[in-house]
Amino acid sequence: MKTLIVYGSKHGATEKCSKVLKNKLHGEVVVVNIKKDIIPDISLFGSIVIGGSIYAGRIQKEIREFCFKNANTLKTKKIGLFVCCMSEGEKAISQLNNSLPNELMSMATAKEHFGGGFTFSKMNFFEKFIIKMVSKKEKNAAIVNMNKDILNIHEDNINRFAQLMNKQ
Ligand SMILES: Cc1cc2nc3c(=O)[nH]c(=O)nc-3n(C[C@H](O)[C@H](O)[C@H](O)COP(=O)(O)O)c2cc1C
Repeated sequence: MKTLIVYGSKHGATEKCSKVLKNKLHGEVVVVNIKKDIIPDISLFGSIVIGGSIYAGRIQKEIREFCFKNANTLKTKKIGLFVCCMSEGEKAISQLNNSLPNELMSMATAKEHFGGGFTFSKMNFFEKFIIKMVSKKEKNAAIVNMNKDILNIHEDNINRFAQLMNKQ
């Protein structure tokens, strides 16, 4: 069965996760960046994976629009949904649940938080400022050092997600 992965990524962490997932899925897998690539005809795929990164509690608007625009076709497919973000635990799960349409969430075969990253080298001043403020408030010393990019991919979650998507 052919799989399409449609992702949104601002600084590359979600792109990396999408490529890690691609290598764990069986059969032909096509990966597209919603902002840069032409989206193929989704009716040609049996499985569709949709994912994006969280900024100020929300996923990319292009990803939400893709879900709403294709709602009728998506309902007939095997669906996987994921987010990349730097929150953990319940907060990450609630961001995942609030990011995508309820109808899709309730029918999805796999739903996961894949971890995320802070790509400081690609961020503008404003983004770094926000992270500095949040990390000071949360007393997170690791994030106050912005000279080095951070990538924290949850490989176990990606494995679990791929296992569910690979089941017949
Ligand atoms: C300005 C800014 C706001 C963010 N807001 C959130 C947030 O509300 N919740 C969260 O869990 N992570 C937040 N993050 C972390 C991103 O979700 C994380 O860096 C993600 O991996 C980015 O993926 P990308 O590189 O594919 O865009 C934020 C990051 C930045 C730079």
